[in-house]
Amino acid sequence: MLSRKVADRLKGFETPFYLYDIDLLRQTLDSAVAVASKYGFRLHYAIKANYDPKILSVIKEYGLGIDCASGNEIRCAIEAGFAPAGIVYAGVGKKDKEIEYAISQGIFSINCESLQELELIDLIAGRMGKVQNVALRINPDIDPKTNSCIDTGQADSKFGISYEEVMANADRIKEYGNVRVKGMHLHIGSQIRELHVFEYLCDKVNAIVECLTGLGFVLDFIDVGGGLGINYDFPENEPIPNFSSVFAIVNQNLKAEGREIHFEFGRSIVAQCGELISTVLFRKDTATGRKLVIIDASMTELIRPALYGAYHCIENITSEESARERYTIVGTACESTDVFDQSVGLPVTKRGDLLTIKSAGAYGMSMASRYNLHDLPSAVYSDEL
Ligand code: LLP
Repeated sequence: MLSRKVADRLKGFETPFYLYDIDLLRQTLDSAVAVASKYGFRLHYAIKANYDPKILSVIKEYGLGIDCASGNEIRCAIEAGFAPAGIVYAGVGKKDKEIEYAISQGIFSINCESLQELELIDLIAGRMGKVQNVALRINPDIDPKTNSCIDTGQADSKFGISYEEVMANADRIKEYGNVRVKGMHLHIGSQIRELHVFEYLCDKVNAIVECLTGLGFVLDFIDVGGGLGINYDFPENEPIPNFSSVFAIVNQNLKAEGREIHFEFGRSIVAQCGELISTVLFRKDTATGRKLVIIDASMTELIRPALYGAYHCIENITSEESARERYTIVGTACESTDVFDQSVGLPVTKRGDLLTIKSAGAYGMSMASRYNLHDLPSAVYSDEL
């Protein structure tokens, strides 16, 4: 990981901050784009994972489109120079003004998540004198074998339209004058490490597409969403996620029949290039003997451990001690769940040491908050050190 190599140079920066390894980001993009283009797949970057301007500018160089979840994300993407024609927009609760903005920008597709939303898009597009391309986001009822907090494609989920509802309303859907159903969209969850799940996904897509085609829909593209997981346990073993396998699985199992295949990856593009660097403020022991390390970061900079019980690998990058101890790493926020790790073995750790919390490039900064009126963390980039 970058932080250990540049630890001396990090000492002058005010912590906590995100450290981004721009070389690793480029290598990751090189890998994703090389394999995707082998199969002719189209890639979108899920901007919700991280909308840092410099990261966006690097991603833009590689020609990816953008997957957005709000009007402001669309605005951010366009301001960062991404072409509206490469933007897709999903979201279970789009506001009228967001739909209007998306239509006015001429984005590639609104990925529609309910019949009521479809009707609203038709109404708004009609009022604007436009016809909007949409994809139906179908809920395929698949267990993505991931943390239940971040699965999105099971039958009872709030995301997507049930396949049965689409079937029952096919005629009505085809009649709208100001929306054109051009594609089908799915996203079954995030941090998927059991790649055979993508095989099930393809089987379901094949069956659904066959039915929709039978009902008279003409689909130009299938957007299979994102979700490829990364190695949080041993990031150094797998700094670049396994794009080859997931693309090969989809290529082998999805009956594209000339349709464009789109992906929307967030985490797999940016997670491993980011670390959260923090300073140890205090060391104290609880009455029960637990050794606490209190760092100057908290759930306000990285909420994943507190929100999902997510694991991030932590290292002390400045301690020169050879002896090791077990610590509970806690943050500064006034919340008992503000714990980064209940029990991690580190070299003896003292006030002033720098800790890195790894694999924090995705859903770190983008989920930061100002709870307790904390300042938002800044960013340091490897190519500017
Ligand atoms: N497409 C759609 C429609 C999505 O909802 C998401 C993520 C993605 C693509 C990108 O998924 P990825 O490739 O990053 O797995 N905050 C959580 C993750 C929430 C993901 C939300 N949707 C976390 O920190 O684990």
